[in-house]
Amino acid sequence: MNWLKWHLYLAALCGLQMLLWIGSGLTLSLLDEDYLDANRYRAQSIQAPGIMAQHFTPGRVSLPADVTEVQLDNLLSRPVYRIELGERSMNLWADTLEPLVLDDALLRKIATASISAPLLDGMEYHPGDSIGFPDSAKVALFNAETDRNTRVLIDAQSGKLLAHKDKGSDLKELLLMLHFMDYAPGNGIAFNHIGIRLFALLTLLMVLSGAFVVWQRWQAGFYQIRFKRPILQAPTLIVLDTQGEELGRFNVGAYLLESINADAPLLPTQCGGGGSCGLCALVFTDNPPDATEADLNRLRGKVEQGHRLACQHGSYCGRVRLVNKAQERYWHKQQQSNEPLTSENV
Ligand code: FES
Repeated sequence: MNWLKWHLYLAALCGLQMLLWIGSGLTLSLLDEDYLDANRYRAQSIQAPGIMAQHFTPGRVSLPADVTEVQLDNLLSRPVYRIELGERSMNLWADTLEPLVLDDALLRKIATASISAPLLDGMEYHPGDSIGFPDSAKVALFNAETDRNTRVLIDAQSGKLLAHKDKGSDLKELLLMLHFMDYAPGNGIAFNHIGIRLFALLTLLMVLSGAFVVWQRWQAGFYQIRFKRPILQAPTLIVLDTQGEELGRFNVGAYLLESINADAPLLPTQCGGGGSCGLCALVFTDNPPDATEADLNRLRGKVEQGHRLACQHGSYCGRVRLVNKAQERYWHKQQQSNEPLTSENV
């Protein structure tokens, strides 16, 4: 497995989410709160019910046995009982104790009462899951006549006002979604949803793959500690062409590929040292270093003949040979284009 490639993909993914997190957080803190507020047309006054609620009387009208909570609410100036029955709930008009049944006209009245702007004709029904209210089975949506695309959302079964939304709150929801990685609908704003767990896992994998790449490189001699010694004979890295003719001598640096390409890119690469393109392959004519995983994956049987990827090995003293004519042509072309202009080559 090419760990460096996976590490780079994971780093790109985590880095992108990091940028989104910073960008969305910064935008949220810089935007005017008033612009994001969808409640500017919300009606302020709620009329108290003008009719008295009936009491539940054992023997005459009694509550179901499994009731867990009863609340007295107000809908269109009429009292309403909100009754919780464990996982279920029911709603009764409290003045008649009849079930609350809401048709389009009643829902429109509730929406109209909640907003100080006129509503447009027509309405839509949406499943609560699809519109950000997973606790509501069915949501009635009304558009209002404002310059901010204001919508009124009502729970179609209980008649409760769920929210006013507009272009400001849409933007806020988008920024919060990016900030909290809330890409799966119905997550809600929570810190432990599947998106966050997934990114936490990806970040962990990024760290582990990075650690593994460092370990592989350390094994390949990338991070050797060097003590200064008097240089007896330099340079000691010699590159030969495919016929064994010397092409150049190079100072030994920390990495083999960089030792050769320090002044000019004489050896081709396409993956930037990722160990996947295979363009930097060389034959080690003296003592080949131990083959790395990338060598084995990319060069397979040639490893036995001393082939190695230059980008996968640290400092090396000795002779290495180009493996094909294409490398040779590239080498000479690069050498020519990097030669200083003289009267002879002009
Ligand atoms: S630079 Fe691509 S494999 Fe070495």
